Amino acid sequence: MSNFAELNYEGKLYQLPVIEGSEGEKAIDISKLRSTSGLITIDKGFKNTGSTESAITFLDGEKGVLRHRGYSIEELADKSSFIEVAYLVIYGELPTEEQLKDFQLEITHHTLVHEDVKAILEGFPSKAHPMGVISSLVSSLTAFYPKSLDPNRSSEEVNGTIIRIIAKLPTLAAWAFKNRMRQPLVYPNNNLDYCSNFLRMMFGLPTEDYHVDPVVSKALDKLLILHVDHEQNCSASTVRIVGSSHASLYASISAGIAALWGPLHGGANQAVIEMLEAIKADGGDVSKYITKAKDKSDPFRLMGFGHRVYKNFDPRARIIKKAADDVLGALGVNDPILDIAKELEGVALKDQYFIDRGLYPNVDFYSGIIYRALGIPTDMFTVMFALGRLPGWVAQWKEMREYGDPIGRPRQVYTGHNDRPYVPINER
Ligand code: ACO
Repeated sequence: MSNFAELNYEGKLYQLPVIEGSEGEKAIDISKLRSTSGLITIDKGFKNTGSTESAITFLDGEKGVLRHRGYSIEELADKSSFIEVAYLVIYGELPTEEQLKDFQLEITHHTLVHEDVKAILEGFPSKAHPMGVISSLVSSLTAFYPKSLDPNRSSEEVNGTIIRIIAKLPTLAAWAFKNRMRQPLVYPNNNLDYCSNFLRMMFGLPTEDYHVDPVVSKALDKLLILHVDHEQNCSASTVRIVGSSHASLYASISAGIAALWGPLHGGANQAVIEMLEAIKADGGDVSKYITKAKDKSDPFRLMGFGHRVYKNFDPRARIIKKAADDVLGALGVNDPILDIAKELEGVALKDQYFIDRGLYPNVDFYSGIIYRALGIPTDMFTVMFALGRLPGWVAQWKEMREYGDPIGRPRQVYTGHNDRPYVPINER
């Protein structure tokens, strides 16, 4: 089999190398195409463009396969913990018992944020969306840790920056919520695990003990695992492209949070609940909303449905659907929104419009229902996603730096005016 593809253009033959990944995926390397033929490629939304080689996450959208560093998401969600999976994606291997203990200890000892962060936080109006707040606060960490501005420092120093962001994001996220509620801030408790500590900072008060329900903390841990990484998605690509200019890790993660915020990406979990609530308030007529979603003159889309890569099923959605049943059962919550979600899914999966386009529930279709059952307010849903995705962003940033990827700078096909003389203002 040849390891190049041929392009015949204007009577000339160009040979383009074909590279192959460890799962047999093949790609045409067009990096020299412009210098040899004058051609560039165009692919809006990068639907068919590989931006990098990567060893972190493999997914097969047709078969519904998702693996981190070779381990299936099903096994990780079932047997591992969020911190262990974070270690796996960032450093490439499952940790030994000792490595995991050290990693946990290091994270635990960096959960506190500088007191001056509170002044920045208090500057936000109480109605500020927490995603905007945490994106700003993460960026502000560059001011408290100025050495982090240089990502070319020793690997120990870069690792210190990595540990700090993983340790501090839950504190910043919980504080963003507290500030929104105008409630006193709760400081981290180093005796608690990652999720319990976060839940205590979210729901506790500084003046009294807060008991974290282990069902809630375990469910949150599983949700975070399911969001850990998803290869070159919108926010991960943002993190890599910002980092490719040698911007700091904090600046790159701050940009990733902003990219995640939109309703077509991580913001979908909030949008799903708002949509389900609107359907309920409108009498619960699911078919009316299916019709709206299919109507091309109506901007309405079924939130939580469809995925750029998964065209058969999203393996995370299967795990989450079952987790939603388990968590609601264990907490004794009866949420009518869950019934509407199941009915909507059932109707959509039989509808030819959704079948033809490969539209299935994605990870966010059921995650909001669990977050609600855990007592997390709607506008914090996407923040939960950011907490889960953080190790993936870190791993993508670290890999991009270690591979020495060049600055991300796509080309374009210009379609504007040709050269024309300036027109003075009184002649326009
Ligand atoms: N409801 C109704 N129709 C849809 C939906 C939807 N949720 N999603 C896609 N379609 C239709 C499109 O209108 C289009 O139809 P057409 O071929 O007749 O024009 C076709 O399906 C393909 O859709 P695209 O937008 O081209 O697919 P793309 O891969 O660009 O978009 C996306 C994927 C953004 C996820 C899209 O399916 C969507 O908007 N879904 C709803 C938002 C959502 O749930 N986002 C979360 C994604 S998962 C995540 O980020 C964790």
